Amino acid sequence: MPLPVPVLPEGVDPAWLPPAAFRAVGGRRTLIRGSGPLVETVHGEVAEACRRFGGRVVRDASDDGPYDLVLGLGADGLGDEGFTLAREGGTTTVTASGGRGLLYGLFHVVRLGEAAFTGERSRRTHRPALALRMLDHWDNVAVHPVMGQVERGYAGGSLFWEDGRARGDLERVRAYGRLLAACGINAISVNNVNVHATEARLLTDRIGDVAAIAGALRPYGIRTHLSVSFAAPLLLGGLPTADPLDGAVRAWWAEATRRVYEAIPDFGGYVVKADSEGQPGPFAYGRSHADGANLLAAALEPFGGTVHWRAFVYDHRQDWRDRTTDRARAAYDHFVPLDGRFAPNAVLQVKHGPMDFQVREPVSPLIGAMPRTRLAVELQVTQEYTGQQRHVCWLGPMWSDVLGFPIEPGASVGESARGGLVAVSNAGDDPFWTGHPLAQANLYTFGRLAWRPDADPGAVLDEWIGLTYGPGPAAGLHAVLDGSWRTYEKYTAPLGVGFMVQPGHHYGPSVDGYEYSPWGTYHFADRDGVGVDRSVATGTGYAGQYGKPWAEVYESADSCPDELLLFFHHVSYAHLLASGKTVIQHIYDTHFEGVEEVEAARDVWAGLVDLVDPARHRRVAELFEEQLRSAREWRDQINSYFFRKSGVPDAHGRRIY
Ligand code: GCU
Repeated sequence: MPLPVPVLPEGVDPAWLPPAAFRAVGGRRTLIRGSGPLVETVHGEVAEACRRFGGRVVRDASDDGPYDLVLGLGADGLGDEGFTLAREGGTTTVTASGGRGLLYGLFHVVRLGEAAFTGERSRRTHRPALALRMLDHWDNVAVHPVMGQVERGYAGGSLFWEDGRARGDLERVRAYGRLLAACGINAISVNNVNVHATEARLLTDRIGDVAAIAGALRPYGIRTHLSVSFAAPLLLGGLPTADPLDGAVRAWWAEATRRVYEAIPDFGGYVVKADSEGQPGPFAYGRSHADGANLLAAALEPFGGTVHWRAFVYDHRQDWRDRTTDRARAAYDHFVPLDGRFAPNAVLQVKHGPMDFQVREPVSPLIGAMPRTRLAVELQVTQEYTGQQRHVCWLGPMWSDVLGFPIEPGASVGESARGGLVAVSNAGDDPFWTGHPLAQANLYTFGRLAWRPDADPGAVLDEWIGLTYGPGPAAGLHAVLDGSWRTYEKYTAPLGVGFMVQPGHHYGPSVDGYEYSPWGTYHFADRDGVGVDRSVATGTGYAGQYGKPWAEVYESADSCPDELLLFFHHVSYAHLLASGKTVIQHIYDTHFEGVEEVEAARDVWAGLVDLVDPARHRRVAELFEEQLRSAREWRDQINSYFFRKSGVPDAHGRRIY
């Protein structure tokens, strides 16, 4: 039986799968061959498109057509997710070995639209570069008193959880799975990495809730994972210890995991944040993080599951007076000595930068430094530090730079991420899914870059625009989105120094907000200069964690790229950048430019009023007012702060307070 396409609740934005996106597919004679649950999903999609646009779909017919589109299982050797596409003699043919491949093939045809049905196409194979393309939801089951329902969530409540329970109606979850499959995502972790008491129980007596969510996501090829507490044997099992080498602890995890698989046979595995920002971990027992990860890997191994062990381990109770401790060093220092000691089904999940998802960071040196460990790279789609989905900030160019960065000799970050690409989701129960309607582009772009890390982000944006908005406003949308990340960088913390955000919620400027805090995120501005000396010669030594050539490039302020200068060096305000400007003049100029660019983008958006759906247009127009207010606040606080510290006037005599 074909699986009906999920019905969106009234008023919920169809994002990149509006009915119109299926016009080309829906007007055709289609043959579907094969069987299995995902083939039913494919059939349901095509049937719905035909219902709208007048085509016809048949199943496993013996006649030879003619058909315009044949979607069939049958090819060998493409894996579960690959497919081939060809067009010959008026028939477009998608062939796959597995159900996921067929579904991805269908969505590929949807993206191509009419072009899939014109001319001839020689057979081409499409396969994801990375096997795991995952979203982590930092969703709490119960509303957390400080963090709310979704930690760092800017899109309303959770899609999965409400008032301490799984949502009863999972139709929207199914629709979410559909959107994600259409951009290539195949795994979701459904709860926060900070596992509070209610959430810990998802592993045991609340596993039925997780199973229900997994059931809604499965027809779109998405596996469900769970964040678990390392202290679960204590919290839930009543054991006196969670020591990873203790026999009773190992038996407890084995049994708990067996029950998980009883409820969810295709369960993906666990995500663990251990010994990090107050979460429990193996350090309490004098054990290593390999011991910790391998404990869970052993429990998951009989069922084919994976443990995602996060490398975000650092001292969050640092004394700001202590200039020798450097948070940027922490992940490398903790984990590199453990290379080769992780079980084959343990994946070390590493944030792309050494700090915490700032608008500009160098690539984490850990990524190139553990050749005998499966690494997954973690990005942040939710815009914690990049405007919180009130500012337009399309992150495609940043992620593309990160994924293409040659971190090892002969290997980019995308190629080193053998354990997959993971991101913190930006979606919630907001009618636009992502709060800011244009933040949908980030979610879509993440999925497509996880499928192909070397894809051109501009081409991905074209796809997203084409599907979501159609051709009309394309030029305007590019004008608004293409440079938005660099614009955001211009009006916030300069030259890679990071933070300068308001403590706690991380929205809006506070230059010294974290300067005397225990979190290890300092800029060290004084009357002479600014920046963190991370050189080997005179600083924390962090630059030495890189291999060649980066250790040398970053070591010297002369060769360090401008955009990372203050991440690696403490320099005077008069220091000349490669651009030919002084640091202080660069700060002034970029902050004025950033605000001007937001003003220009707002005007471009206003001009799209007749080309964009009114609800989306209104929402974005409102948010632009907030972005502009906030950008001006950033400009004025940063410029005033550095003018007061340095006493150096702006060369152009602009207004500084
Ligand atoms: C950041 C973020 C936290 C989150 C943490 C993590 O520090 O502010 O909310 O828990 O990252 O990645 O674990």
